[in-house]
Amino acid sequence: MSSSNSIAVQVRGVTKSFGIGDSRTVALKGVDFSTREGELHLVVGPSGCGKTTLLSVVAGTLDWDAGEIEVLGTRLNGMTKGAVTAFRGKHVGFIFQQFNLIPTLTCIENVSVPLLLNGHHRGEAERRAAELLTTVGLAEKGRKRPTELSGGQQQRVAIARALSHEPRLLICDEPTSALDSATGHQIMELLATAARKPGRCVIIVTHDPRIYGYADRITVMEDGRVTQVLEGDALRHYIETHQ
Ligand SMILES: Nc1ncnc2c1ncn2[C@@H]1O[C@H](COP(=O)(O)OP(=O)(O)O)[C@@H](O)[C@H]1O
Ligand SMILES: [Mg+2]
Repeated sequence: MSSSNSIAVQVRGVTKSFGIGDSRTVALKGVDFSTREGELHLVVGPSGCGKTTLLSVVAGTLDWDAGEIEVLGTRLNGMTKGAVTAFRGKHVGFIFQQFNLIPTLTCIENVSVPLLLNGHHRGEAERRAAELLTTVGLAEKGRKRPTELSGGQQQRVAIARALSHEPRLLICDEPTSALDSATGHQIMELLATAARKPGRCVIIVTHDPRIYGYADRITVMEDGRVTQVLEGDALRHYIETHQ
């Protein structure tokens, strides 16, 4: 359960559309969303309902049209792109749906990138990267490049990279989609441990009912809107009826 009641992310009335005229898609139609420190928060809903778009605006990688976003006590509205990028580099980790690993770097180098960007020396960064690769079950793959790995292995490298600099906010888009059940549970244990440290939180978009049991809260989206926010008994009932 949550160890703190401080708000980590607060989204109010956020709208976002893509394209113009006949090709216009309204991806977010006035979304309210909030998550607390110490919480592992799942966002679920059918494909195309706006989950990735919501994560992207919270992460500051996508502009939105209207509404307010506050992350870790910092208001993103009105911040310059440079300031958002600096804030993100320090405090936010991501696991993207497409992994976004750098193909020319080895796995150890990929996992080291956030540490180097945060001022760690190469040797120290690579030692920490090797430890994290061991934690995700890839001790033997450190010197390989991502293209030499399976989809599930690449996903685990992306997870190690996102955890490396211990970001206060970790945002994950379908982190278990390419993993078998046992590996998926190992990864969820790591993410749950990260979420429950003081001052930290993890938001996970998922389609995968196998991981619902890890949630402190579930936000349900449908067609660009939040339709339910579940915790306590309502959350337990939702998990029982959707597994
Ligand atoms: N870059 C984009 N350009 C045009 N339409 C987009 C773009 N990104 C998302 N969309 C559209 O916005 C809607 C929500 O997409 P998305 O947030 O990716 O949904 P989800 O992650 O829940 O599957 C979908 O209709 C999708 O086609
Ligand atoms: Mg998506």
